Amino acid sequence: MKPVTVVTLQAMKRAREKIVCLTGYDYSFATLLDRAGVDLVMVGDSLGMVMQGHASTLPVTMDNMVYHSSCVARGLTRAILVVDMPFLSYQAGPVQAIENAGRLMKEGGAQVVKIEGGAPMAETVRFLAERGIPVCGHLGLTPQSVHRLGGYSVQGKDAAAAQRIREDARILQDAGASLLVLEAVPAALGEGVSSALDIPVIGIGAGAGCDGQVLVLQDMLGLYPRPSPKFSRNFMPGSAGIEEAVRAYCDAVRSGTFPGPEQSFG
Ligand code: KIV
Repeated sequence: MKPVTVVTLQAMKRAREKIVCLTGYDYSFATLLDRAGVDLVMVGDSLGMVMQGHASTLPVTMDNMVYHSSCVARGLTRAILVVDMPFLSYQAGPVQAIENAGRLMKEGGAQVVKIEGGAPMAETVRFLAERGIPVCGHLGLTPQSVHRLGGYSVQGKDAAAAQRIREDARILQDAGASLLVLEAVPAALGEGVSSALDIPVIGIGAGAGCDGQVLVLQDMLGLYPRPSPKFSRNFMPGSAGIEEAVRAYCDAVRSGTFPGPEQSFG
């Protein structure tokens, strides 16, 4: 099995092959996800909620991310590893960002780093990309801004907000981002952004028209004790075990049956 790279993901987009992504936080699950055929494993700062029990991603530290990333990296042979830069590890500017991205890559084995935000992050994205660090942007519902957004709500619902997301997406691509995560936006906006960009767009609550899909592992296995978002689906019922549930998710994304209308926003 050839390892997945950012170039592979771009070729998959051109070939209209859906990209299957899941979050992962430890070695055992990483080996399972890799074996089941997940293309991209993301060590999300959602670990603050699903692994640590916090109410948001804000308390997550760089040391937490390096630790979980290094555990996941040891379990992957094929899937590409994307790792979140946690809250306030990059917002101060490009120099802070490159020092922390460097830690995620050198100590954590990250192959791509993910940062939240649009135009104000363009300088940082360009600085990292021009120095050889692949960057994944994150637009729409950006959980590190939960207090400014006033909760975990759907973004881009009116014409002006949708236009800002389209412009931010273009700005991040032009700055050198290799990938984009688009979270909790109307399905038509997800499809529009995906078709307007050359880089792959990975949706989470952004409709079936995105180039790929990501879910939080604990949500799609029904393990998280708090309510899961509307855009998630529990793949455990009807599956004989965890690996079968992950394979069912991979099949559903690749065949376009996930997300369905019930996991999408109008
Ligand atoms: O933190 C996270 O897990 C994420 C993904 C779900 C996109 O940002």
